Formats: sequence, structure tokens, C-alpha cells
Amino acid sequence: MSGIYLHIPFCKQACHYCNFHFSTNLDRESAVIDAICREIQMRKDFLPTKKIETLYLGGGTPSVISEESLKNLIAELSEVYDLSSLREFTLEANPDDITVENLEMWKEVGVNRFSLGVQSFFDEELEYMNRAHSSSQSYKSIDLIRKARFANFSIDLIYGGHLTSSGMMLMNIHEAVQLKIPHLSIYGMTVEEKTALHSFIQTGKMDPIPETKQAEQFSLVMEQMAEDGYEQYEISNYCKSKKYALHNTNYWKGASYVGFGPSAHSFNGEMRAWNISDNNAYVKAIDGGASYSKEERLSDKDKYNEYIMTGLRTKWGVNRAIVTNEFAAFADTFEAGLAQQLESKCIEEKEESFVLTQTGKLIADNVISELFAT
Ligand SMILES: C[S@@+](CC[C@H](N)C(=O)[O-])C[C@H]1O[C@@H](n2cnc3c(N)ncnc32)[C@H](O)[C@@H]1O
Ligand code: SF4
Repeated sequence: MSGIYLHIPFCKQACHYCNFHFSTNLDRESAVIDAICREIQMRKDFLPTKKIETLYLGGGTPSVISEESLKNLIAELSEVYDLSSLREFTLEANPDDITVENLEMWKEVGVNRFSLGVQSFFDEELEYMNRAHSSSQSYKSIDLIRKARFANFSIDLIYGGHLTSSGMMLMNIHEAVQLKIPHLSIYGMTVEEKTALHSFIQTGKMDPIPETKQAEQFSLVMEQMAEDGYEQYEISNYCKSKKYALHNTNYWKGASYVGFGPSAHSFNGEMRAWNISDNNAYVKAIDGGASYSKEERLSDKDKYNEYIMTGLRTKWGVNRAIVTNEFAAFADTFEAGLAQQLESKCIEEKEESFVLTQTGKLIADNVISELFAT
């Protein structure tokens, strides 16, 4: 079983923090969707199987595209892949796009899970982020999703921005808990290059965000979520009743997936490919039969590092037997790094696996890199 990712590279407006690939020029929708449909045919032999377990429409903002575009994409996928065993079909949506009509249409095409970009329940934070929606639209959209009988959905929240006090962050969690949201992705605000936020800081219009604020709030997020009965199954992901995001969990467990659309990535166990992050160049390349992606064959070292990186971010951790059996050449590196991190209590042993401790999660990138083969 494998997964499919479709990257929908359009947004109504640019959030100040975001450097994902998107364009606000929605006039190019049909040209880009046509090109993605052609890519689906061109890349049809990439996966080791045609049976698909998860389909994920991400972006950008997949909830902005028309019914016709969505149906064309799904029809094209159905020609190439066996979608009869599809267990999860997630659509990333912005609250202002959630309407009764859209929900009906999404249900009709098979969507069974939403990832809703709430980010904050405070209007002043939404304005600071330059979001296209208000907090009241978030409440309304969650209500509509429920009324349309979608039981499985997630919301995104961001902590650690300039305006976010610890109290506000806890209020955001409190609201999500009150609303009985089954799954949450909670991210620390990252100041990415080529974003408005980055330039505000560079030009002195805003102060840099202190690293201590991020760590402090992340600690509080983890504590509060545990107190509210959510399982932190990945650094930024929490759920109740084992409602893990199947598509992303498969990524983290090393399953193969193919990604279509500008900037989409693909992985089939041996090769990794990534598409050009430019809508016009992507369409032009596909139209002209030119190259629109780069690819690399993973070395044994890449595969080992990938296993460590994705495994340690999850509650399933990394397993000594897997390292010994599948990555024997790196077993010494693993043991040396592991001993050091066990000693500093950043990693602990749990049910025959090694996982990050709460302290380790606060400095996850550093801890993980200590086990890498270089
Ligand atoms: C690429 S967006 C796509 C979803 C949808 N367009 C939306 O905004 O709701 C996925 C999520 O990544 C998170 N994100 C994007 N850039 C981020 C940043 N610089 N720092 C923290 N979180 C970020 C946001 O929570 C966002 O909802
Ligand atoms: S966060 Fe979502 S809506 Fe905002 S710019 Fe990024 S992809 Fe678009």
C-alpha cells in the first residue's frame, strides 16, 4: 500500500510566515490542474504498487480549487491507480472556504478527513499572521464540518509568534479541547527566509523571536495536551483515540508515496524526487516535455539517516534490531550516539524502542543529528 500527495499551489493571500510553495494568481488554476493531470500519467510507474491507501491534498490551499478541477484530478488518479482500498482522503482547508455546498461536494468526491488551518482563535494573531479568515469563521467551519458528519478532522495551531503569550497559547489549546477536536497539529512559529515575517525582522520593524519563548511554549503545549488526554504521537501531532493521521504516519514509517504538482516530493523506497517550485515553469516543462523534477537514488547512509530522523520524531521511535538487521554498517554510529543521548536523558528506552524524552523533544533536531551517519 502506498500514498498519493497532490500539491495545490494556490492561496487567496500570502500568510506572513509561510514559505510553502503557492501563488496568489488563481487565474492559472486550470493550466496547473491540466499539467498535474498529465504528470499523473507521466509518473505512473513510480510506485511499486497501484493500490493506494491514503490520498492527501495539501498546499497551498486545496479548498480554493473548483469542483471541476477536483473532479478532473480524481478522475485522472482513478485511471492510473486502484483507489478501492483508500482508507484516508485528507483535504487541507482554510476556514473561510468551508461552506455547506463545498462540504457536500467534498463528501461526494470521497474526502473523509480535513486538516483545517485555524492557527489561532485570537483575531489579533490572525491579523498578525495575515490570515484570510477570522476566528468566528473558524468556529463556524468546525461546526459545519461536524454537521456534515465528518468525524475525522484535524486543526493546525501555531504558538510562539510575536503576539502569543503563554496564556494565549493555553487559551488556544483550551478552545480546541472544549471543541473536542480529535487531532491537532501544533507548530512553533518558524521565521522562514523569503517571508514577510523574515523581512519585518531583518528591517527592524519587528524584534527577533527569542528562542527561549519557543522552547517555553512548546514545553507548556506538551504538558497541557497530555493533561487534556491527547497522545503526542509525533513532535507536532496530537490525537485522541488513536486517530493518527494515516498518510503522514506512513511517511514517518518509511512507506512509499508519489507526489504530483509543483514542489511535490515523491519517494519509492529507492529514489526520491522533487518537482520544480514554480507554477509557470512547471506547466511549461510539462507542456514541452522538458524536465520538471530532480531525483536522487538514496544511498545506504541516506536510508539510515532517514530512518533515524523520521523514527525519532514519533512515539514509535527507532529500534535496535532494525538498525542491526537493515543498517548493519551504521550500527556502531547508532550505538555511540545512543549511549550519549541515553546518558544525557534526551532519549529513553520504551517497549523495545528508543524514543525522545520530553527534554529531548525540546532540542529534537540536535539530538537526532547526534545519531546520524556523516
Ligand atoms: C502549508 S500550510 C497548508 C494549509 C492551509 N493552506 C492553511 O494555511 O491552513 C500547513 C500548515 O503549516 C503550518 N505552517 C506553515 N508555515 C509555518 C511556519 N513558518 N511556522 C509554523 N507553522 C507553519 C501552518 O500551521 C499551516 O496550517
Ligand atoms: S499557511 Fe496556508 S494559506 Fe497561508 S500562505 Fe501558507 S499555504 Fe497559503
